[in-house]
Order: sequence, then C-alpha cells, then structure tokens
Amino acid sequence: MIPLLHQSMKVLAIETSCDETALAVIESDTVGKTFSVLGSALYSQASKHAEYGGVYPNLAKREHQENLVPLTTKTLSEAGLLKTLQEKITIYDNFSDIKEENFRNNVRAFLAHTEKPDIDLIAVTYGPGLEPALWSGVSFANALSAVWNIPAVGVNHLEGHIISALLDTEDNVRFTMHDVAFPVLSLLISGGHTELVLMEEWFSYELVGRTKDDAVGEAYDKVARLLGLPYPGGPHIETYAAKLKPKTDTLKPFTLPRPMIHEQSCDFSFSGLKTAVRYMVEAIPSLSESDKENIAHEFQNAVRDVLVSKTKRALDETGARTLAVGGGVSANQNIREALHKLVVEEFPGIYFGYPEKSLTGDNAIMIGIAGLLRAHHKRTDTEKTLVARGSLSLT
Ligand code: KG4
Ligand code: ZN
Repeated sequence: MIPLLHQSMKVLAIETSCDETALAVIESDTVGKTFSVLGSALYSQASKHAEYGGVYPNLAKREHQENLVPLTTKTLSEAGLLKTLQEKITIYDNFSDIKEENFRNNVRAFLAHTEKPDIDLIAVTYGPGLEPALWSGVSFANALSAVWNIPAVGVNHLEGHIISALLDTEDNVRFTMHDVAFPVLSLLISGGHTELVLMEEWFSYELVGRTKDDAVGEAYDKVARLLGLPYPGGPHIETYAAKLKPKTDTLKPFTLPRPMIHEQSCDFSFSGLKTAVRYMVEAIPSLSESDKENIAHEFQNAVRDVLVSKTKRALDETGARTLAVGGGVSANQNIREALHKLVVEEFPGIYFGYPEKSLTGDNAIMIGIAGLLRAHHKRTDTEKTLVARGSLSLT
C-alpha cells in the first residue's frame, strides 16, 4: 500500500462535460477525509438546449467558453483567493489547444490581470462527455496550469458521480468521506451512462453491466419529449408520475415492458421501452393530462423495476458491501426509495450511499473532491498537458 499524502490541499475544480459549466474551490484536511467547499459557481445551460430536446454540443462549447472566466473569477473571489494585479503581466504562452480566438483572448486577459492564487491543484473533467464541451474545460485548465505553474489532473466524470454518493454532509459545505466498506458496487445512472461498476479498492474498477443502447436519463428525456414535456425530462416525468391518483385511473391499459429483466446478465436496454412509449402515445388521438400522468407513472415504474432487478443480481454476484448510486437520475425519489428498500429487505449488512440532492446533477464539487482524493492517494495522472476523451471509460 502506498502511504497517503499527509497534507492539506486546495483544488480549483472545473466541470464542462455536458451542459453545466461548474467551478469550485475545495480544501481537504491533512488526510483527505474531510473536504470544505470554499467557493463554487454553477451555470446550467439547460434552458438554452431545451428547444433542441437534448444537448447541442457546439452550443454547449460556446456557452462554456463564455462562462468559464466569469465563473472562475466568482469562485476564486468567494474563496477569498482572487487578487487582481495592479499592472497586467505579459503572457507568453500561445495556448495551442485553445482553437477559438475569442476564448483565447478572454483567457489571456484574465491571466494577465490575475495573481496566481493559493491553490495546489487544478482538477478538470477530461471525459467521458461531449468532446467539444470537455475541451473547453480541459484547454482552460491547461492554460491556468501552464501560466500559474500548478499541476492539472484529469478526473473521470463517472468517478466524480461515484464519490458524490460516498460523502456525508450536514450543510452542503463540509463533506466527509464515509468509512467505505469495499467492494463498492456503483449504479451510475445519468443522461449519458447506465452502468454497474465494481470498485474493489479505491480507483480500481471492473464493469459488471451496462446499457446496450440508450442511457436511462436519455430514455427519460426522450419519453418526456413524446409527452410534450420540457428538457431535461427526468424531473418533469417524476412530477407527472407523482400526480397520478391510482383510484381514478387504474382501468386504463397503460402497461410497458421491463426490458431484459429476465436475462441472466447485469446489462440493460432502454431504447425498446422508449419505443413502446412512442407506440402508446401514437395510439392516443389527443393526449390528456391524465394520459401523461399514467404513462409517466408506468414508465418510471418500468425503469425502477429494471434498475432494482439488475442491481439485486449484481449485489448477489459480486458480494459488494456498499451500494452507491450516482448520476443525474439518482435524484429520482422513486428510484432511491426502491433501492433503499432492496438493501434494507434483502441485503441488510450493506451500506447504501447516495448523493445529496445538490450533488446529483453535474457539478465541480464532486470533481474537486475526486481530484483531492486521488492526490492524497498519490494516484493522479502525470500527463503534462491534458487531453479531452469523449468516450473515456472507468474500466
Ligand atoms: O449526471 P447528469 O446531470 O448529466 C450527465 O452526466 O448525463 O444527468 C442528467 C440526466 C438527464 O437525463 C435528466 O433528465 C436526468 O439526469 N434527471 C432525472 C431526474 N433529474 C435529472 N431523471 C429522473 N428523475 C429525476 N428527478
Ligand atoms: Zn453526469
């Protein structure tokens, strides 16, 4: 075992993998157990992508590039680490991985006016995600790292989601790492991913199951669109499903399949479920509010049943001692409650970890904590210049 690095550290974290531009400054204690958020800022572009019914990569990139400098300024200032230089300095770096002139000029102007802040590390999401979006954060991190001479480490976005499920907090400012019992089985459910991953020890991953087609969040978003509900669809489907009054509507034949539920594997499939919803919607001449409630309710139950069944199989197969659920869809109360019930009733010795609601969606806090945790375990990548990897995998 490599001994831990015993030193308190401050990280500037950057997340731009999808449609959230997020920054955070986080300080660890000397052993990498407790993490305090000194400053954070998050700008969601969701409303800008709504008309496309999903995230439009080049728009996401443009928005990230416009917002990175202002959000960094805000975050450093909140952390008490922003010092504006009286006389601007000359920046010689040509920032060769920033292709867009406007962005390069903004970054250059920011660095020319800003004193190197008191941070030890820059942590940036370098994959998986939309490559143009990822590059905004990665090239920005490379620029800050080169000019300030502070190491930049790449963080896997999915590792951030896993870690967010293993943190305890009372105030959403100070986060403490739970005393994790390994192996940890993670159910990652987001807009881009649906995976069951086993972590035997910190940072050592093995794939247990994954979707063969759509991610579960993607299915939520597409079904929401079919029902005429806005993007991102997850929260709207959840609200509609909760409105259903079972007594008045139970006679309607709203039954959807539970894809792959009986297959002897931990893999998933959600595209057939989405297609089944499409046929159901097309068969209704004019969709009423009650129809939407019924379909949302049945769709959500179908997703929940499949997730619970595959998670149960994976817990049985792996003998995991912790179940961690993470990613945007883990905000869903119906899914959380069903997983909680599964653990309480069938796996009583297992710890069930799930993120605070503030950390379910994409954010820089989970990226910063993952970066700090890696630094404490001396497991950071040592690449000099980071490269964005759209299809980066954990395993
Ligand atoms: O992790 P995330 O913020 O971004 C990705 O890494 O993809 O996940 C976004 C996804 C979207 O598909 C969104 O509809 C879904 O999470 N989502 C939900 C809920 N809140 C967000 N799905 C179901 N129920 C929710 N309450
Ligand atoms: Zn995510």
